[in-house]
Amino acid sequence: MSSSSKTKETPTRASVPTAAPAPFAGGRPGSISLRGVSQIYGNGADKVTAVGPVDLEVEPGEFLVLVGASGCGKSTLLRLIAGFEQPAEGDVEISGGTAIPGTTAGVVFQQPRLFPWRTVGGNVDLALKYAGVPKDQRPARRRELLERVGLVDVDKRRIWEISGGQQQRVAIARALAAETSLLLLDEPFAALDALTRERLQNDLRTVSVELGRTNVFVTHSAEEAAFLGTRIVVLTKRPGRIALDISSPIPRTGLSAEELRDSPEYTVLRTQVHEAIKGAAE
Ligand SMILES: Nc1ncnc2c1ncn2[C@@H]1O[C@H](COP(=O)(O)OP(=O)(O)O)[C@@H](O)[C@H]1O
Ligand SMILES: [Mg+2]
Repeated sequence: MSSSSKTKETPTRASVPTAAPAPFAGGRPGSISLRGVSQIYGNGADKVTAVGPVDLEVEPGEFLVLVGASGCGKSTLLRLIAGFEQPAEGDVEISGGTAIPGTTAGVVFQQPRLFPWRTVGGNVDLALKYAGVPKDQRPARRRELLERVGLVDVDKRRIWEISGGQQQRVAIARALAAETSLLLLDEPFAALDALTRERLQNDLRTVSVELGRTNVFVTHSAEEAAFLGTRIVVLTKRPGRIALDISSPIPRTGLSAEELRDSPEYTVLRTQVHEAIKGAAE
């Protein structure tokens, strides 16, 4: 890191105490800062406030689960964090700057949205290309990503030849292709059968610990929230506001997925989140 920025400091700024604590999580890679954020759709009689106002500071590396009843504004909030839309009110700051779609965050949706005529590896390759990874580095990166999501064996298969769970694994690999500090997931496992969903939850938990990125995961499931989140934010019914904001007491490492699901802490947290969702929807 060059020291030139220090020497450029102007005399007027020198009077500002440099050790002052930051007022919000913003500034560091992977941080999210929402201040007074609301989103409004439509005009006149059709005007709907979808979400907010919401104030939220997310620290780098947190696994935040946004949970709430259908229609409360979870996806809206995620789109604002992704930079797909701008808020009607308030500020969204990602890593201390503006959210840039495709650059500040990798995004996974409920439907995998892959290129069906390409192979599994071909879909990952394309994501690496879009992420600006040089051609000669792509094969190694592709293999690394496929290993991470457990798909090395199906590298050469077409998308339509693999299962829904595997397709969603490709979508996760694609979202990880760019070295963003943020991974955003909008009900990614909602369309999968229970057993497949559980396997993907287990593997996402492992991947998130390994990579240490900031995750924002949207779901309406208390089980999923309690299993994955280091922090869980429950939204009220529309317009979604924060009804509950809790840190998980469950350690991130040292517990297998089975041990986590069998632990009393998990049962207590799941019940607490479930009750909060019900209460917030009334
Ligand atoms: N583009 C849009 N135009 C109009 N209304 C919208 C739009 N997107 C979302 N909404 C409305 O905003 C509310 C919140 O939607 P959404 O964020 O999708 O909720 P959730 O993801 O929690 O189910 C809903 O009532 C929805 O109908
Ligand atoms: Mg949604």
